[in-house]
Amino acid sequence: MQNFDYQTPTRLIFGKGVITKLPEVMKQFGSKILLTYGGGSIKKLGLYDKVRELLDGSEIFELCGIQPNPKYDPSVLEGVRLCKENNIDVILAVGGGSVLDCSKAIAAGALYDGDPWDLITYKTIGKASLPIVDILTLAATGSEYDPGAVISRTETNDKIGYMDSNNYPAVSILDPTYTFTVSKKQTAAGCADAMNHIMEQYFCEDSTLLNDGFMEAALKSLMVNARKCLDNPEDYTARAEMMLDCTYGCNGIYSLGNSYSGWPCHGMEHALSAYYDITHGEGLAIITPRWMKHILSEKTVDRFVKYGTNVFGIDSTLDKFEIADKAIAETYSFFESIGIPMHLKEVGIDESRIGEMAHHVAENEGLDKAWAPLTEQDIAAIFTASL
Ligand code: NZQ
Ligand code: ZN
Repeated sequence: MQNFDYQTPTRLIFGKGVITKLPEVMKQFGSKILLTYGGGSIKKLGLYDKVRELLDGSEIFELCGIQPNPKYDPSVLEGVRLCKENNIDVILAVGGGSVLDCSKAIAAGALYDGDPWDLITYKTIGKASLPIVDILTLAATGSEYDPGAVISRTETNDKIGYMDSNNYPAVSILDPTYTFTVSKKQTAAGCADAMNHIMEQYFCEDSTLLNDGFMEAALKSLMVNARKCLDNPEDYTARAEMMLDCTYGCNGIYSLGNSYSGWPCHGMEHALSAYYDITHGEGLAIITPRWMKHILSEKTVDRFVKYGTNVFGIDSTLDKFEIADKAIAETYSFFESIGIPMHLKEVGIDESRIGEMAHHVAENEGLDKAWAPLTEQDIAAIFTASL
């Protein structure tokens, strides 16, 4: 087992109706609030009006229109400007992972004198961030319980996963009923994203019985509950279980003491959504089984045997490569069965920029140091197999 140093400072407030705690939560941080949200789903949900009603008396500024795969320009820059000009005390992010991520970059940029891109690209390390409170409306990324923010810069085709421990949300308000309106497409993509977060931690050199058990249970829970959410979008228990599975998925708690895998599927997917602005979870679902097939070898096969037998119940007496092949096929079939388009061509990506994207990933994502190292040629082969 590897050494670790771990702290998650986020307060989670979970359950039906917990939004009533919002005034008490916000009061501790001050009265000047930047309310951030996306393209309008929170208005359809009635959540926007509810927040305004509960915070009547606070001074609220707004940044709206944050897009999926949130953009540095204009959203992060505009948010930083609003914070600086109005001496904002706290950011209230209401929405999915994109709104939360954008708000984290704003929170850091607001207390930094230079160009916020310096922080996102680690040219400099931020000393502090504004406090962030969020109300999550989509179960997927785990941004509500982690220090990560993934920010895109369109003109350079960059999509950067940026980690800063100052950017853990101070408080995350998690009411599963706010996810009842999430579309089938986004529900399935959210499930695939969270499953991949777990796989990125599971497929590594050194793991523990405890962590494997956590992760195998979480994968099974996500598959069972995502199906229930798709069949009945207002199944409270299924939405609640899926939400918590996703919340835990990305903050590292499942893999304390594990060796690092390199997060290869995320490294590759970030290029797909940077170049083509696709839905993150769909890109991951498409790449994952092709990556698995590509890296299957004498060195990696035992992890696939464990995954296949414990997650999918594959007969453990079969030949180890047969188990691994079946496990990869089951992974593919599950994603396909929840309605995810399983070919890049179906999400608008053809072969024309594969070389360019593979080069970008090889240059920027450090996948030559992953558990199963990937060269630029390997990455291009995985993209090509995903077409
Ligand atoms: O913009 P609005 O109108 O709010 O609509 C959103 C958006 O169109 C909609 N939506 C959200 N809640 C809804 C809803 N529609 C109906 N009812 C609701 N309750 O869903 C669409 C997608 O939203 P988005 O926030 O983009 O989805 P998600 O939560 O999957 O976030 C994806 C982003 O997070 C990044 C991804 O790369 C991507 O940019 N990630 C962040 C991570 C992190 N911070 O740790 C880790 C992940 O690996 C991931 O990379
Ligand atoms: Zn992800």
